[in-house]
Amino acid sequence: MDYSDQKLRLGVNIDHIATVRNARGGDYPDPLRAALLAQAAGADGITAHLREDRRHITDADIEALMDGLSVPLNFEMAATDEMQAIALRHKPHAVCLVPEKREERTTEGGLEVAREENRLAHFIAPLRDVGCRVSIFIAADQRQIEAAHRIGAPVIELHTGAYCDAHAEGRFDARDAELERLRDMAAFADDLGLEVHAGHGLTYETVAPIAALAQVRELNIGHFLMGEAMFVGLEASIRKMRALMDAARSGKPSKA
Ligand code: PXP
Repeated sequence: MDYSDQKLRLGVNIDHIATVRNARGGDYPDPLRAALLAQAAGADGITAHLREDRRHITDADIEALMDGLSVPLNFEMAATDEMQAIALRHKPHAVCLVPEKREERTTEGGLEVAREENRLAHFIAPLRDVGCRVSIFIAADQRQIEAAHRIGAPVIELHTGAYCDAHAEGRFDARDAELERLRDMAAFADDLGLEVHAGHGLTYETVAPIAALAQVRELNIGHFLMGEAMFVGLEASIRKMRALMDAARSGKPSKA
């Protein structure tokens, strides 16, 4: 289906507000305050990744976000028993399963669903039973999409990191090939009945072609927005991203 006449949702990832706070310990900057500001600036949801090593978002942050937000929380987590118990306790609107390696700086690749189909099918069942919308973060790869569909996930999030890296490194042929792959796989997943989201590494320069993909319903963006916020403020950085997304969606150039 073509959803380009529908508003593309923006989920703002606030992990790196917590990164800055944790660099010194203490209470500021406060991720909930950032989330409320993001909400006021046009975020349709807030995303937060509780990592096993708690390097940014903490358990107390998740609790505060659950209590304080009036937009949906997308709770990113690894598929571990510890995280499943936390998600079942809080019952966030959405749970996004991501691969997690202790030594990585950020979520480097998509989840290997195809190799772990059985375990993941059992893992997501109780989350779905309590009403969480389960999303699986995967590469734009037909095998992984088919596996995500088979295990009963209603949503996939396509990893845009390879597309963004190719752009940043000036490898424009590779970037365009990645974009083509994302376009084909978004359409393929939508045909299977999956809701398609996308994210990772998106910036003002790279967001438009992804926002224009007719089957993508939501983008999750964090690190770039938080960096830009240091110069222009969080509200302005989010408003500009929102304007670029909306312009790409409508096919009209942005005045932002
Ligand atoms: N989507 C998922 C599943 C992620 O893991 C992340 C990073 O935590 C993002 C989106 C946002 O990526 P970035 O911070 O690079 O915008």
